[in-house]
Amino acid sequence: MPAIPRDDRPDSTWALLSEGYPFIMNRCRRFGSDLFTARLMFTPAICMSGPEAARVFYEPGRFTRNGALPTTALRALQDKGSVQTLDGDAHRRRKAMFMELMTPPAIARLQDLVAAEWAAAAERWHGAPNGVVLLAEARGVLCRAAGRWIGLPLTDAEADRRTAEIGAMIDGAASVGPRNWRALWLRRRTERWLRAVVAEVRAGRRAAEPDGALAVVAAYREPDGRPLDLPVAAVELLNVLRPIVAVARFIVFAALALHEHPHWRDRIRDGDGDGDSDATEWFVQEVRRLAPFFPMVGGRVREPFAWHGHDFAPGTWVLLDLFGTNRDPRAWEDPEAFRPERFRDRAISAYEMIPQGGGGFETGHRCPGEWITIALMKTSVRVLAAGLDYRVPDQDLSVDLTRMPAAPRSRFIIADVRRRLTV
Ligand code: HEM
Repeated sequence: MPAIPRDDRPDSTWALLSEGYPFIMNRCRRFGSDLFTARLMFTPAICMSGPEAARVFYEPGRFTRNGALPTTALRALQDKGSVQTLDGDAHRRRKAMFMELMTPPAIARLQDLVAAEWAAAAERWHGAPNGVVLLAEARGVLCRAAGRWIGLPLTDAEADRRTAEIGAMIDGAASVGPRNWRALWLRRRTERWLRAVVAEVRAGRRAAEPDGALAVVAAYREPDGRPLDLPVAAVELLNVLRPIVAVARFIVFAALALHEHPHWRDRIRDGDGDGDSDATEWFVQEVRRLAPFFPMVGGRVREPFAWHGHDFAPGTWVLLDLFGTNRDPRAWEDPEAFRPERFRDRAISAYEMIPQGGGGFETGHRCPGEWITIALMKTSVRVLAAGLDYRVPDQDLSVDLTRMPAAPRSRFIIADVRRRLTV
């Protein structure tokens, strides 16, 4: 049985933090192997990368997400009783609640809400002499639209406050120390707010649109007929609201790609009339493939299996490389090149393109918000390419891959923004 390579240091946490996103990919390439062992945070781990590794990782039932994240990130991103922490039938049932929200008409409604918020925001920016920071503005747009979409419209002041809270939560998720503590503190505050909202809906003191996430989560019943505990209901609602706001990061990477590849702006502008051309779809997929967002996902083995001659015993901690798999040369020709046409006539397998996880939606932990993400990126890219004229002033657009989650350093400033009259 061939031994799997080992990262040759007593503990590799520092290497992970100082190399950032490419940590697993770098080693897999160096070792010429899909997997290696390492110690991370003084815990033995198996790191793996590539489409075959993704297929192994996303085999239904094999892994649990419990105990699979560093505790600080876990507490900032998920919580006790949330869908991520469930397994088997309990997971399947709860996941179905999320998938129920993702119908084509519901997604189209969210797109309309976001388009309207972009239009309103563009009016506000008109007079901003120094321009605006797109990451923050896109978060505001998405938070306002998401509030309406889930059935919880926000006043301007509330929207600003919740946008800032949720933004800090996202920025602080993978950090340690004060940034992370702040994220946790804000998270508790946001959860308190959402607990109160769910309680009001259940008591009939607040109306909630029947198909919106607020009504669905408030009314959801566990298999024994009980409603979700209030803290869990708040967490699941936040599991819809927060990641919608997080799509702003992809939108910023899309803006960066439009800036670096201006012919794509023209191509999207000249679309096929309704603006929903294939070009926009390819462009968005290429941004999702290359943008550094979630570097990896972790799991603990539930059902033992063997792969590459290695026995994966129950409890083994495994990290699957999302960043490196999305640029694995076995699946992607010239993987670092930004080439949206690669998506022309290409079926996207559930294991090669995994910025939001892979495998099946119902049977595993793959992100239920993937269709929403793509739809919101398409709407926003059309706004940026065809709906607005703006200037990108001199700024530091470099992306630090050791900072997770990453963004252009300037967070993308745009100036002299004007709505285009012909859209
Ligand atoms: C901003 C872009 C997004 C990224 C990069 C992203 C990424 C991910 C990743 C990597 C996972 C974990 C997959 C795994 O454990 O195997 C995940 C899970 C999840 N995402 Fe997203 N996501 C995004 C947007 C969304 C949206 C818009 C929603 C909801 C509306 C959402 C809701 C969730 C939920 C509830 C889970 C847990 C699923 C489960 O455990 O079964 N995400 N996401």
